[in-house]
Amino acid sequence: MIRVSKSIVGKKESKAVENVIRNVGYLGMGEEVGLFERELELFFGNYDYKTVCVNSGTSALHLAIESITKPGDEILVPSLTYVATFQAISAAGCIPVPCEVDKNTLLIDTKDAKKRISKKTKVILPVFYAGNPSNYSEIYNFASENNLRVIEDAAHAFGSTYDGEKIGAQGDIICFSFDGIKNITSGEGGAIVSSDKNVIRYVKDARLLGVQKDSEKRYRGERSWEFDVTIQGYRYHMSNIFAAIGRVQLKRFINEFASTRKNIAKKYTELLSDQKKVKLIQMNYDNVVPHIFPILVMDNLRDKLAELLLENDVQYGLHYKPNHLLSKYKTSYKLEITEKVYNQIITIPLHPEINNSKIKKITNIINNL
Ligand SMILES: Cc1ncc(COP(=O)(O)O)c(C=O)c1O
Repeated sequence: MIRVSKSIVGKKESKAVENVIRNVGYLGMGEEVGLFERELELFFGNYDYKTVCVNSGTSALHLAIESITKPGDEILVPSLTYVATFQAISAAGCIPVPCEVDKNTLLIDTKDAKKRISKKTKVILPVFYAGNPSNYSEIYNFASENNLRVIEDAAHAFGSTYDGEKIGAQGDIICFSFDGIKNITSGEGGAIVSSDKNVIRYVKDARLLGVQKDSEKRYRGERSWEFDVTIQGYRYHMSNIFAAIGRVQLKRFINEFASTRKNIAKKYTELLSDQKKVKLIQMNYDNVVPHIFPILVMDNLRDKLAELLLENDVQYGLHYKPNHLLSKYKTSYKLEITEKVYNQIITIPLHPEINNSKIKKITNIINNL
């Protein structure tokens, strides 16, 4: 079976975990986490921005949202995202307001978002779907015109750039995921990145049950016994084990994963661009490190393609069931483009072990549709 997504881990990651067990001797949050955060800051490349690691992308979003909102605030968000984005918003007591996507990029449509602004709207939360941040300027112009904060769901966009700068080196608050199948993995994990000192202070405490100023002590292998707590906190910190895996993955991303992912997407684009029965998502793979490769299948042929892929031992994905169709987040309005896309979309395999022969096999199935 050709997997649609995969954790690409091996000896180097095992060694790093072994080192934590044998030599560091503490599996919880400690020095490895501090080192991973500094290495991520070096990678993003803007030292005004600080990185705080947590145990998932969902908790990164949850803490980022709580750091700048109060319960009842409304957040503009594309409906076409993983339910994690919506759950993080509602966990903070805020109201997700599902918006339409652009039919070519599948990124939030700001014209639709404009219609959904109310007095309670405080944040726009764009999702860089598949890794693509190409509507970056549009989002930030929209936010400043409407006096909104921006929280970027960059779960898919680790390593992508906009205007020559990495995601995580500019903007308001940026959230990453390092779950098992992301551009880099730490097993499970996530990070919040911002230049806003209040946000960083808040999320650093909130990830450690609200215990004030405990992070620096943890990095040194110490902890607070006498402390104060003023906010709701969570046990969301990253562990040394996760950070050790993440540190290896970051190096491998720079040396291998980023270019491999881009090349696979470029090859798919080349081999599928003449096929009239599928539409490719508009994206520039010079700037994007793709996390997934979704395509739109025309003429109601999506389910037939899904069947053909499975018959040929190729796994597929459906990214995503729109959130406004889930009972918890049901809307009184329709989102026509999102609903149409939902019936056309299918994700074909993309991870660093997809080689040329697998690409040929998969594109042949699609081209014979
Ligand atoms: C768009 C999006 N946002 C948020 C998340 C949440 O990340 P995590 O799985 O690390 O909690 C994911 C991950 O699946 C995602 O795809």
